[in-house]
Amino acid sequence: MKLPIFAANWKMNHGPTDARAFMKSFLAHYPRQHDRKVLFFPNALSVTTVADAVRERPDLEVGVQNVHFEDKGAFTGENSAPMARDAGATHVLVGHSERRHVFGESDEAAGRKVQAALRAGLTPVLCVGELLAEREAGDTEAVVLRQLRAGIAGLDAQQVAGMLFAYEPVWAIGTGRTATPGDANTVHQAIRAALREAIGERAMGVPILYGGSVSRSNAPQLLAEEEVDGVLVGGASLDADGWNAIVRA
Ligand code: PGA
Repeated sequence: MKLPIFAANWKMNHGPTDARAFMKSFLAHYPRQHDRKVLFFPNALSVTTVADAVRERPDLEVGVQNVHFEDKGAFTGENSAPMARDAGATHVLVGHSERRHVFGESDEAAGRKVQAALRAGLTPVLCVGELLAEREAGDTEAVVLRQLRAGIAGLDAQQVAGMLFAYEPVWAIGTGRTATPGDANTVHQAIRAALREAIGERAMGVPILYGGSVSRSNAPQLLAEEEVDGVLVGGASLDADGWNAIVRA
């Protein structure tokens, strides 16, 4: 049985002061749970704050939203995977749609970042998803699987089996439009099939999260789908009480 995963992507919100207040409030109302895992993805400056807050809580973990694919060097403004690890992160989002479409990150760069994460002992959460025009052109599966295959290129089965994946249709992110649970499940099935092709039966144990305007009202239906193993939540994860309600789904 895979434990359901609830991942909060705070994007560029909640600096250390807000993050501390959020965690204090969240922890006060969310006692340790054994049947689910909660991941926080604060901005890099708040990672240590969140990591300190969850130190005594094995059911809660923290990750970074992005890393550079080199371990160190002259890359002003960037953070590396070993540094994220040192700051207390266990996970890293790779290829989030805002990285791909706002910052122009290529499929190949996402693949290099996955490799950097694995080198550093971080669990990569590879995010994939199609634009609205790509969906309307009937290219959803082709786009998602192209991103997926580039993201895991050159990895062995054990490495892929230890990763997480997130399907986030770009048109559903921050727009209030969600894929129907059935649509999400269909794409998750295609991802599962591609993973199976790549690594065999071990693919069955790999968590695939859904993201894009997930809220406390739609999370239960999404999670009820067979292939939806968790959710990756942006806007609705920013308020401690609202997030608490979602993770209890
Ligand atoms: P959203 O963001 O929940 O605000 O749509 C999800 C994400 O981008 O990970």
